[in-house]
Amino acid sequence: MTTARICLAGASGYLGARVAAAFRARAVPVSAILRSPGDGAAVSQLRSLGADVFFADAARHEDYGPALKDVGTAISCMASRNVHVDRASDFWAIDRDANIRFGLAAVAAHARCIILVATYEGVASRYCSALSEAKEQAVDVIAAACGIAGIPFVVIRPTAYFSDLTNRAFDSVAAHHRYTEIGDGTRRINPVDGDDVATFIVARAIAPGAARADYPVGGPDVFTFRQIGELAAEVLGTRAALQVRAIPPGVLRVAAGLAAAGGTCSARLRRTAAILRWMIYAGTHDAVAPSCGERHLRTNYEARARSVAASWAAF
Ligand SMILES: NC(=O)c1ccc[n+]([C@@H]2O[C@H](COP(=O)([O-])OP(=O)(O)OC[C@H]3O[C@@H](n4cnc5c(N)ncnc54)[C@H](OP(=O)(O)O)[C@@H]3O)[C@@H](O)[C@H]2O)c1
Repeated sequence: MTTARICLAGASGYLGARVAAAFRARAVPVSAILRSPGDGAAVSQLRSLGADVFFADAARHEDYGPALKDVGTAISCMASRNVHVDRASDFWAIDRDANIRFGLAAVAAHARCIILVATYEGVASRYCSALSEAKEQAVDVIAAACGIAGIPFVVIRPTAYFSDLTNRAFDSVAAHHRYTEIGDGTRRINPVDGDDVATFIVARAIAPGAARADYPVGGPDVFTFRQIGELAAEVLGTRAALQVRAIPPGVLRVAAGLAAAGGTCSARLRRTAAILRWMIYAGTHDAVAPSCGERHLRTNYEARARSVAASWAAF
């Protein structure tokens, strides 16, 4: 396969690490951007794959130029983290501003294609949650710049990764036999494995196609939120003990309002308010996207159940 060099921001994250591995498995040169050399595990992992590693802390506005040298496709999997929350590194600073800076630097570096990973429900939920609005503003600005420069711009919109929603559900059921859902748990979603999304991104980088394209992507199986908890309990053999806790959206709305009020002087509360509003949206709307994947949640849960059993056996 002949694909020009990939420049990848957010290469240490759940999806970014998988995207780097998927390109390297096809012998595509990768310039991987990490926040800092302090993340020794990610540096070693990426170097062992044969990626060239660059450092740019987006919160400090560090330069993407060196990483974008000779770029073919520029990809951002960058997103703000819960662990670093201040005004320099919250969702406005990272999901919006850092992604915009990266996208505009890629345009200036004459990238042949730019790919941004956003969220499935981003457009519909942008007026409810600042978390979505921040990422959608990045989409809008990069789309405009790519339009002017004549560079294809691809937006990947996954539903939810196995890393996030479904793993949290599994961990809660495994640890406490407890599953928490918003509302009545009847909304439907098809979560997707990050490796499947990475494979999908590789295909888009090879053939980006139209000037602007959005790809909603999900996994092969559709569940109600309740069924995700039930699947975890079934695989763990604890179905009879499962306790389902339903949080009414109204309670979350009140909590989000209080957090938003506190958010005028606290970046952490501002993030909490945005996350709660995003959770209300996600928990009260279906998120079923065309399937890009072949990896099943049941298989993922079975592997996790084996490792839980192995860790108990080791005691
Ligand atoms: N999680 C989901 O279920 C889900 C669903 C749909 C869409 N998405 C979207 O998919 C994309 C990837 O998500 P993910 O779950 O893989 O995210 P993630 O694991 O949280 O990774 C985020 C990446 O951004 C980097 N980053 C954050 N702040 C930075 C900074 N100041 N400077 C440099 N790098 C920084 C992180 O670096 P560090 O490792 O150094 O923090 C990490 O590499 C995001 O755009 C997300 O919104 C996620």
